[in-house]
Amino acid sequence: MKTESLSKFWKLALFCSLTIVTTANIVCVNFSRIVFPGDSSASLYYPSTSVFCNELAKIILSCVLLLYEVKSCSRLMSVLKTEVFEKWSSTLKMAVPAIVYVIQNNLSFFALGNLDPATYQVTYQLKLLTTALVMRLLLGKILTSKQWGALFVLLIGVCLVEIEKLAPQDMTAVSRQMLQTASANKKDDSVIGEERSYDSPAGSSVNVLAGIAATIGMTFCSAFAGVYFEKMVRSSPASSSGGKGLQQGAIKLSELGELWVKNIQLYLFSCISALAACLLHDGDKIAENGFFHGYNSLTVVVVLIGSAGGTATALMLKYLDNIYKNFASSMSLVLASFCSFCLTGQLYGPKFFLGSFLVCLSLFIYQSTQKTLTNKTTVGSNSANRQRNLPLPMYMPKEVISKVMEQNDVSKA
Ligand code: C5P
Repeated sequence: MKTESLSKFWKLALFCSLTIVTTANIVCVNFSRIVFPGDSSASLYYPSTSVFCNELAKIILSCVLLLYEVKSCSRLMSVLKTEVFEKWSSTLKMAVPAIVYVIQNNLSFFALGNLDPATYQVTYQLKLLTTALVMRLLLGKILTSKQWGALFVLLIGVCLVEIEKLAPQDMTAVSRQMLQTASANKKDDSVIGEERSYDSPAGSSVNVLAGIAATIGMTFCSAFAGVYFEKMVRSSPASSSGGKGLQQGAIKLSELGELWVKNIQLYLFSCISALAACLLHDGDKIAENGFFHGYNSLTVVVVLIGSAGGTATALMLKYLDNIYKNFASSMSLVLASFCSFCLTGQLYGPKFFLGSFLVCLSLFIYQSTQKTLTNKTTVGSNSANRQRNLPLPMYMPKEVISKVMEQNDVSKA
């Protein structure tokens, strides 16, 4: 794969890979959380332990990819020592998204304790809009009105799909289980799946408004962490200096090598927080039954797919952006529902099909505006900037864009 910039083909391949991996993740997590009637010997694994294993597997996969890049174990060790431990300030920067993800996960516990899954899922889809908002604030990325329109269409589409999927009256026994892990592509939604259902413990009061506020808080956390990571991987030394390496005497890393390093830094903190979550939420049960209680081959598959999903997400944020990442996860929600239809025979009504259509339509609209922008000007497009040899950042404030457009018009005239 050419790493300095990606061709349309590779971007499409990346988008499809993330969509497929996320779909596979949702389906596998759902099935790994089902105890079929009559299977009395079956016991479920503790979701918090699978989250920890997931983060650990992500670190191992990133190390393997880095090993492929540097070609030898000794060089790998040297890179890890320098980039992760000696340059601790750069490692510390990755604690920011990791901490935000921890906050997000804790908010999800609170939200699910106060909302029914459908309200939770639908409200969480607002992240499609908050992401665009945070990208505007942190990266200066400006969306056209057509692009905002596409995001609203996407939002309506995903909400329709989720409402149909989670409608209580339609639930079969299997789909009821699936509901519990409906957004399993998000690691801790699977955590909340089993124990954190809508049925709040008897006597506990449910505060719907607080639940909605927590879910909206989650959408901002998701947006901020994603955009922060995007900013970090796009402003890395190799990408800004054309891959000239990190420092004199250090092993030269390509853009991809740097991405794996950033991932390792992020996952280190995620691992620590995931371990803390294991002890906090399931410490007693783990002490009694063991860390790997309830694990089987499907659990291993879940962990492996989850780690592949992390790598695909990182690539997506590096070479496309957070909005495309959200498009991919929305598409995978639709595809996963389709898979559940094939596997369980659960039928969906017209809302589901209309929603699926809207999701596809929104991607089409958004993509068509990208083409128009690339042809017309340089807004928010890395490749367009390169084609025109503009020494400008990928995302520019509105004033700069209009100035550049003005200059281009003058030079053309
Ligand atoms: O819901 P949201 O889209 O914010 O979830 C993003 C997920 O992607 C998080 O679970 C996060 O751990 C994961 N991620 C990853 N590797 C990255 C960036 C995000 O595994 N480099």
